[in-house]
Order: sequence, then structure tokens, then C-alpha cells
Amino acid sequence: MSFRGPKGTDDILPPESRRWRELLRSWDLLSEQYGYAYVATPLFESTDLFARGVGEATEVVEKQMYSFEDKAGRNLTLRPEITAGVLRAYIQAGLSGEFKGSYSGPCFRYERPQEGRRRQFWQLGVEYLGANHSEADLEVIELGYRYLLDCGLGEVVVHVNSIGDASDREAYHSRLADWLNERRHLLSDQAQRRIRSNPLRVLDSKADQEVVSEAPKPVDYLGKDGLEHYEQLLAGLTERGIAYRQAPRLVRGLDYYTRTVFEYIPPGYTAAQNAVGGGGRYDGLSRLLDGPELPGVGLALGLDRIISAAGSSPPARALDVFLVVADQNRRSLAHAFARRLRSAGVRCDLVAGYRSVRAQFKAADRRDAAAAVVIGDEWDDGMVTIKDLSSGYEQVIPAGEVAMWVVDGGAVPR
Ligand code: HAM
Repeated sequence: MSFRGPKGTDDILPPESRRWRELLRSWDLLSEQYGYAYVATPLFESTDLFARGVGEATEVVEKQMYSFEDKAGRNLTLRPEITAGVLRAYIQAGLSGEFKGSYSGPCFRYERPQEGRRRQFWQLGVEYLGANHSEADLEVIELGYRYLLDCGLGEVVVHVNSIGDASDREAYHSRLADWLNERRHLLSDQAQRRIRSNPLRVLDSKADQEVVSEAPKPVDYLGKDGLEHYEQLLAGLTERGIAYRQAPRLVRGLDYYTRTVFEYIPPGYTAAQNAVGGGGRYDGLSRLLDGPELPGVGLALGLDRIISAAGSSPPARALDVFLVVADQNRRSLAHAFARRLRSAGVRCDLVAGYRSVRAQFKAADRRDAAAAVVIGDEWDDGMVTIKDLSSGYEQVIPAGEVAMWVVDGGAVPR
């Protein structure tokens, strides 16, 4: 018997894994530059957290959760998203005031697997808690937008909408429910069931898009404050040069949103679901989870989707140099040299144990090193031979200059 990974999951192996690592690192860096501190929450939480936070009547909670009972009979769920967990952590720690957290990690949804729709997928996100001004929404949207541009998704468009506060939604919900009821016979069974319980979810139903394309729009029911918030948001997007489009029936698939909702759509991306990321404001979520009155706004990007939308760019070399030990008596010296190079930031490796010079050169190629550094007789004079493995160009240089050679981008004969 041979084992296979569970359906809808992926192994991230080299060389592709290099791109993953690069994108994870640049997410950490960029979110830190915007003032977000790293947060990590458990991969599983109580099932109730998601049922209450994300919403009982959402696809995610109704159909997609990996839920199980542990040995003590607790109901737990592998996290389908991270926002509810971050809120739970903030409340549990008794924090107060503003909090800016950034995270990355796997999430789990039982979906029909296809490209860009996985059962285990990787989210990168931020949550900005305690700020209710539209500038917080703008900051979050800008951060995701900049990140996607840096990833090579140059033509991403942000689709934005406002679904109002709970009070705005009362009037809108009843108008929408009436409108949907009049067209009941045209709607899917699931949509019909949701008209009463959660009519907003019908706007989000893939099967009912044609019918709902004419439905009343939430923005027409915004109160004074909600409208002002939305107008400030649109003006700010223009001012910041962010490409956006108003999407009047965008509601998103999770129940916790208030006011702003948005998604990042790369043009021409045809995977099953076309948003590479999305988010919004959730001013009622903390109360829903028995926490304090606390506004919040955040976003999550799907790393799997970013990578498939950005296409493959030739990955950088895996190693800067591979040490080839020509004289086996110099093996321990070569290891010491490797340690020095690594401390200087050089990505460096060598084989373990005795191998012929030829075998070591082969290993250097297989390991995708940019150059081989031969440690041979010249070592006694403080020199090594460095060979650029793409061009074949070879040079004898002082051992102390290998790190500089790497920084300069290799051997270019002048
Ligand atoms: P979401 O739209 O459900 O929002 O997920 C965010 C992103 O995760 C999606 O845009 C997509 O890129 C990725 N994603 C979702 N499901 C899958 C899947 N099955 N396979 C691959 N990628 C997937 C949230 O989760 C919210 N927590 C975002 C948020 C943060 N709102 C406020 N703060």
C-alpha cells in the first residue's frame, strides 16, 4: 500500500516551496512595516466560536467545517478562517484599546477541490481592532493591495461595497426578503430557505447570481454615518491610487461584516473562485463573542490563489554556493568555512561524508547552487577556486572574498 495526502491538500516541495517562503517572508516584512505585530492562534477552536462568529447560516459553517469531538467530548473545529480566533484571543487575554495583529497559516474547509479551492489552504491576514475610522479600512485595503502588487499581480482591482450597520440592515433585510419572495420560484432550494433566516446570503449564492443581479442594493439603505464612512472610503481609495470598482451586491460569505466589505480580483484569473483575498469591517463581532464593544477591520489573502494567479516566475537559485572539497583532509576546515559563510548571510551547503570531486559537482548542480567553491591546494595561500555554475566561468579568489562575490551577484569578468 502507498500513502497519499488527503484529497484537496498539497505538499509544498522545492523548487516551488522557495516561492512560498519568499512570499511568507515578504508578508511578515510588509505587515510589520505597517505596524502589525505577529499573532498565532490555535489551528483548532471550539466549534461554537465559528458557529457564532462566522454565522450558522453561512456555507462555511453549514457545509465546510472539519468538526470533531475530542476524547473528552468537546466539540472542536479545524479553523476555516482566522479572524474569529484572533478576536477570541484578544478577548481572552483581557486586552483593551487598539490592537494590530498579522498572521499567516493554514485553514481548512471541506470544499470540492479544484485549482484555487483546496481543503487545506494558506491564509495571510491582518486584523486592526479598536479603530472605527475609515482610515483604518483604507490602511488594511492598501496593505493587501501593495502586497499583491509586490507579488506581481499588477492589475488587481479592489471590489468594494458597504453593507451598513446592524440598524441599516433591518430596513434593507426586510426589503430584500420581500423582493426575493416575489421571485421565490426562480431561486434555488437553499436560497429559498435563506430568505427568512439570512437574506444577505442569497446575494452571495453562486447558483442564484442571475436572479439577484437586479436585487435592491445595501448602499441604498445606509444611514447617515454609514454613508459618510463609505464616501470617505471611496475618496481615500482614489487619493491613494488604488484601482477599485464598486460592487453593489458584494456581501461576502461570512456573517460578521458591517459597513465595508471588499475583495481583490485579478483580471483574467479563472480559478473556481476569483478573489485572491478579501475582508471588511466587523464592528459587532466582539460583542457576539461576549467581548467588549470593539470595532475591527481586517483582511485575509489566499496564498494558494496568489501563487496560481501570479503564474510561475523562475525561482531564484536555492543556494549561493556549494563547497567542493578537493582534498578530503580539509573536510573539517570546509565545514568551519561553511559556518563562517552562513554567519555572513551566504546560503551555503556541502555534502556529508566522503564523495569524489565529480560527485560533489553533480550535487552542486542538483541542489541548484549558483556557484561551486573548490577547496583545494590554493587554500594554503588563502585562496579558493569559484566557478559560476551557469556560465562555467572560473576564478581564483581570496577565501575571504567569497561573501562579497555573492553580494556582487557573481563572477562577471571585467
Ligand atoms: P474569505 O474570503 O473566506 O475571508 O477567505 C479569504 C481568502 O482565503 C479568499 O479570498 C481566498 O483567497 C482564500 N481561500 C478561502 N477559501 C479557500 C479555499 N478553499 N482554497 C484556497 N483558498 C481559499 C476570510 O476568511 C476572512 N477571515 C477575511 C477577513 C479577515 N475579514 C476580516 N478579517
